[in-house]
Amino acid sequence: MGTLLDGFMVSKAIRSELKDRVAKLISNGKRVPCLAVIIVGEDPASQTYVNSKAKQSKDVGYTSQTIALPTQTTQEDLISAVEKLNHDNNVDGILVQLPLPQHIDEDALINAIAPEKDVDGLHPLNVGYLNLGEPTFIPCTPKGIIRLLDWYNINLEGKRALVIGRSRLVGKPIAALLMARNATVTVAHSKTTDLNALLAEAEIIVVAMGRPEFIKAEHIKANQVLVDVGIHRGDGKIIGDVEHAAYEKAAFATPVPKGVGPMTIASLLENTMEAYLRGDHHE
Ligand code: GUN
Repeated sequence: MGTLLDGFMVSKAIRSELKDRVAKLISNGKRVPCLAVIIVGEDPASQTYVNSKAKQSKDVGYTSQTIALPTQTTQEDLISAVEKLNHDNNVDGILVQLPLPQHIDEDALINAIAPEKDVDGLHPLNVGYLNLGEPTFIPCTPKGIIRLLDWYNINLEGKRALVIGRSRLVGKPIAALLMARNATVTVAHSKTTDLNALLAEAEIIVVAMGRPEFIKAEHIKANQVLVDVGIHRGDGKIIGDVEHAAYEKAAFATPVPKGVGPMTIASLLENTMEAYLRGDHHE
C-alpha cells in the first residue's frame, strides 16, 4: 500500500504562511495583495473554481475582484477589461479563467495580460522564461505538483518521468519543470502509439489527459510515483484520470480530490504575493 500525497494538508500550510505574511503587511500599514479573476459565461465547473479562488484569496487576507462577463461578450470588450486591470495599480495578479467561449481567441486574450501580472504564467514571455529555466511566474497546477513532491522529499533527479497530456496549463509546463529538476522526461499524448510500454518504464507518471479513470491499477507498479491531475464530476462525486485502485498500487500517489487541486489554488495565491512584491506600487 502506497502513501497518499495530501495536497489539502500541504495547501493549508502554504495558505497559513501567506496569511501570516499578509498580517505583517497590514501591521506595517501596507496595502494587501489583490487578485482579479475574469470569468466569461456560465460554465458551472469554471464558476466553482473561480468562487474557490475568490474565497481562498479573501481567507489569506488578500482583496479579490471577480469580473463575471456574459458568454456573448466580444473579444474587444474582454481585452478592454484585461487592459483596465493591467493599468490598475491596486491589482497585482490577473487570471482569465479558461476555457473561453468559442468566439474568443484564447491566445489573443492571454497576450493582452501584462506579463508582470500574469499569475497564471500563461503569457508567451513567461512561458519562454520557464522553458529557459529563468525565474518567472510558474503555471499554478505544475507549480503545485512540484511543491507537493518536494514536501514529501520525492527525488526527481535522473528519474524517468512520463507526462501524459501536452496542454498549455499542465502538460507542457510540468514537462519543463521536471526537466529543470534533471528528470528524463517523455511527453505522451493522444497520438502516442505505445503508451503501455512508456508506462511500464516510467518512475514518475503525471496524468493530465482529461479522461475519467483512463489509467487503471493494471498499468501501475509498486515503485512508481503517480500524479493524478484529472478532475471530473459525476454521480455526485469527483474522480480523476486515474482509478482509485491504482493509487494503492503505486509507491506514492496524489488522490482526487484533495491532491493536486488544492495545491493549484495555493500556488495561485503564492504567485499573487510574488506579483505584489515584484511591483513597485505596494508602499
Ligand atoms: N481552467 C482550469 N484550470 C485553470 C487554470 O489554472 N488557470 C486558468 N486560467 N484557467 C483554468
